[in-house]
Amino acid sequence: MSSDAKLRVAVLLSGSGTNLQAIIDRTESGELDIDIVGIVSDNPDAFGLERARRAGLRTAVVEFASFANRDEFDIELENTLANLEPDLVVLAGYMRILATPVVNAYEGRMLNIHPSLLPEYPGLDTYRRVLEAGDEWHGTTVHYVIPELDSGPAILQYRIRIRPDDTEDRLRERLQNGEYLIYSRVIDWIASNRLHLRDGTVVLDGMELDAPVTEDEIS
Ligand code: GRF
Repeated sequence: MSSDAKLRVAVLLSGSGTNLQAIIDRTESGELDIDIVGIVSDNPDAFGLERARRAGLRTAVVEFASFANRDEFDIELENTLANLEPDLVVLAGYMRILATPVVNAYEGRMLNIHPSLLPEYPGLDTYRRVLEAGDEWHGTTVHYVIPELDSGPAILQYRIRIRPDDTEDRLRERLQNGEYLIYSRVIDWIASNRLHLRDGTVVLDGMELDAPVTEDEIS
C-alpha cells in the first residue's frame, strides 16, 4: 500500500453482518478512513450480503456446496479474495475454518473477532458456556488469524461483568455492542499504521504487547 492510499479491506462473513454494518457506518461517517473493497460470503442467504449491496459494495459468494471437494472450494475462495487485492482481510462471523494456505497468504493481514476472552472458550456457544461455568467475566477478542482456530495473537479485548440476571441473549447484545467499537478501533489502528504483527508479536505504537489491550464495558 502506498502511503497515501486507503487501506483496502475485504470482509468475510456467513450471517447477519452486524459487525460489517458497524464498519460500513463508521466508514461512511468518516470515522474509519478505509476502502471496503468487497464482501465475500459462503452463504448466499447471509443478510450481511444485503447490507453490503445496500451500501453499494462489491459482493461475492463462494458456497461450499458448489464445489466438488474442499480443495476446489479453497482455491476459489483464495482467488476471489486475491482479486479484491485487499491489504487486510476481516473475518466478521465467517463460520468456516479457513485452509492453511489462505491464512498464510494473509499472515499479519487477517483479523477475526471471537466472542470470548481468548484463550478461554475457543469454539462455539461461548455465551452458554460462560453462564454454565458461573464465570464472573465474559468478553470478546480481536486477534490476528493463524491456522489454528480462534488462536493467534490477541490485540484488543472488550470485557463485560456477568450480572446475576444475564441470559445468553442479554450477554450477546451487550458483547456485540462492544464488538462494534473494538473491531473498528483495531482496523483504524492498522489503517493509520499504528498496529503491526512482527515475528508473531503484536506491536502497537512501537511497543510490543505481551497481553491484549483491554477495555471494560461502562456499566
Ligand atoms: C460476532 O458476534 C462475532 O463475535 C462472531 O460472529 C458474530 C457475527 O455476528 N465471530 P454478525 O454477523 O457480525 O452480526
